[in-house]
Amino acid sequence: MLDPFGRHITYLRVSVTDRCDFRCVYCMAEDMAFLPKAEILSLEELDRLCSAFIAKGVNKLRLTGGEPLVRRDVMKLIRGLSRHLETGALDELTLTTNGSQLSRFASELAACGVRRINVSLDTLDPEKFAAVTRWGKLEKVLAGIDAAQAAGLAVKINAVALAGINEDEIPELLAWAHGRGMDLTLIETMPMGEIDVARADQYLPLSRVRERLEARWTLIDSPWRTGGPARYVDVKETGGRLGFITPLTHNFCESCNRVRVTCKGELFMCLGQDDRADLRTPMRASDGDELLSAAIDEAIARKPKGHDFVIERARPRPAVARHMSVTGG
Ligand code: 5AD
Ligand code: SF4
Repeated sequence: MLDPFGRHITYLRVSVTDRCDFRCVYCMAEDMAFLPKAEILSLEELDRLCSAFIAKGVNKLRLTGGEPLVRRDVMKLIRGLSRHLETGALDELTLTTNGSQLSRFASELAACGVRRINVSLDTLDPEKFAAVTRWGKLEKVLAGIDAAQAAGLAVKINAVALAGINEDEIPELLAWAHGRGMDLTLIETMPMGEIDVARADQYLPLSRVRERLEARWTLIDSPWRTGGPARYVDVKETGGRLGFITPLTHNFCESCNRVRVTCKGELFMCLGQDDRADLRTPMRASDGDELLSAAIDEAIARKPKGHDFVIERARPRPAVARHMSVTGG
């Protein structure tokens, strides 16, 4: 699949549920309205959709949410999709999770051929963690990370950099993650969906974080890529890798290789734009995949050049109305 700007689309992210057992302050409002169950694709339909993309050249698949591991029977989907790893059609099947359910699922994930997972964790302070996630328990997530590493999964920690919340703790997070053999990626908060606080108060430019880290560590630019938007440095003193996802301070759209599908079968060609294509209707219209495949082609042909995220006090409205939990990170 080739988009109008010559970018090959080889990476699909699938939000298998918009629900989550946390309510992170930068992601959701406290009282979120979720999709009615009837709107949501069945696990069989999600498999069919993913498989159609794989047939069209997708070789990397990431399951997200919401929290993917709170979807009932999600392991059935993952087990099914792992057949594409066995045939070699898929290079990587991976997951972004908040870690709350990992103790239960880590070894089964590893058995399905999952090699790496991203765990979202913004702070190691139990009280701050409770404040940021509103509903989360730090100890459960830490136990989940232990289980994942014990099962042989490579764990990358994703932390959203938040002014006044984890700003001062980032060095500690880095030392902790690298001390346990985990990479750390920092993310700038993106203006997606109405939340209960002002984005401008939370927004922390990573350029500032990087300067601060450089006072303590030697950061060496690295050519390492994982297929996502992060740009990495090697931290000389720890031997670990540190990633930066900087949609605000440095736009990375020119190398975008991905599209996103929601749990009701909408294809979003860009995280930062509202344009979408309904894939559920063409999929349900026939048993064969011709209509579905044509709908995908038509959508890829209008993938936009990039997002136009800005966070400014003068512009309090989010760039897109939907929350991150609709499309996953
Ligand atoms: N901006 C940046 N990152 C976000 N996430 C959720 N909402 C936002 C936002 N508005 C992150 C989560 C998780 C990933 C799925 O996206 O922390 O790491
Ligand atoms: Fe849930 Fe992740 Fe959103 Fe937090 S950031 S509420 S864990 S989907």
